Amino acid sequence: MEKKNRVIGIRVIDLDEVDSTNEYAKRIAPEVPEGTVVVAKRQTAGRGRRGRSWASPEGGLWLSVILKPPRLDGRLVFVGALAVSDTLADFGIPSGIKWPNDVWAGGKKISGVLTEGKAGEYTVLGIGLNVNNPLPEELRESATAMVNFIGARVPLERVLERLLFHLDGWYRVFLEMPELMMAKVRERTFILGRTVRVIEDDNVLIGRAVDVLDDGSLLLDIGGQLRRVLYGDVSLRFL
Ligand code: ATP
Ligand code: BTN
Repeated sequence: MEKKNRVIGIRVIDLDEVDSTNEYAKRIAPEVPEGTVVVAKRQTAGRGRRGRSWASPEGGLWLSVILKPPRLDGRLVFVGALAVSDTLADFGIPSGIKWPNDVWAGGKKISGVLTEGKAGEYTVLGIGLNVNNPLPEELRESATAMVNFIGARVPLERVLERLLFHLDGWYRVFLEMPELMMAKVRERTFILGRTVRVIEDDNVLIGRAVDVLDDGSLLLDIGGQLRRVLYGDVSLRFL
C-alpha cells in the first residue's frame, strides 16, 4: 500500500479492550501526532450521540482518528461517512448516507460516526462499522453488518486498511475543497425528497428534505417555508 504523504494511519494503536476509543483518543490527543488511530477489538462503553450506547462486541471495527484541523468544523463527520461508504463499495456493498452521521446498507444502519472536538486542539473522529459482529436482539430490525451481505467472515484488517485509505483521501478533500466533499455527500445521501421528522433540541420539525448545503446543514421544506437545520445532535427519522 502506498503510504507516502499519508496522514491518517501513520500510527495505529491497537487495543484488545477499551471503554470507548473516542474517550481513549481524547485522553491522548494532546500528545500524539495528527492522524493517530486508536482501534479496539471491543468497547465496554461504546457511545453514540447524546450519550446513547453503541453495541461494540468483538468482530466489528471500532476506531477513532485524532485530527488536528486548522479550525473546528462539524463537517468532519462527512469525512467518516464518505470513507465508510467507499469502503463498503470496495467489498461490493452499496450504501447511502443518512444525514448527518449514519451509513445505511440494505435499508438498515451499518455504521455510525461520532465526532468530538476541542477548539484549537483536536477533533476525534469515531467510527463504528458492523463487520462480523453479532447485533443485540433489539437492533436486529434496524441494524446490519457486512457479513450479512458477503455471507462469510470479512477480514477485519482488510476493512481497516481500506477505511484508513479512504479516510486519508477524504480528509485531504475536506481540507482543500470542502465544497467538493459536500457535493459527494449530496450525491450519496438518500434522504433528499423524503418526508422526515427532525428533532433539534426541543424542536420537532416535519418537512421534506430538499438539499444538503455546502456548510453541511439540511434544508427542509416545511409547508412551503424553507428552514435550515444545522447538523450536530439532530435526530432524523423517515415518516
Ligand atoms: P436518530 O435516528 O435519532 O438520528 P441515530 O440512529 O443516528 O439516531 P445515534 O444516537 O446517532 O442514533 O446512534 C446511537 C443509536 O444507534 C443507538 O441508540 C442504537 O439504536 C443504535 N446502535 C447502537 N449500536 C449499534 C450498532 N452496533 N449498529 C447499529 N446501530 C447501533
Ligand atoms: C452514532 O451513530 O451515534 C455514532 C456511533 C459511533 C460509534 C463509534 S465506535 C468507535 C467510537 N467510539 C465510541 O464510543 N463511539 C464511536
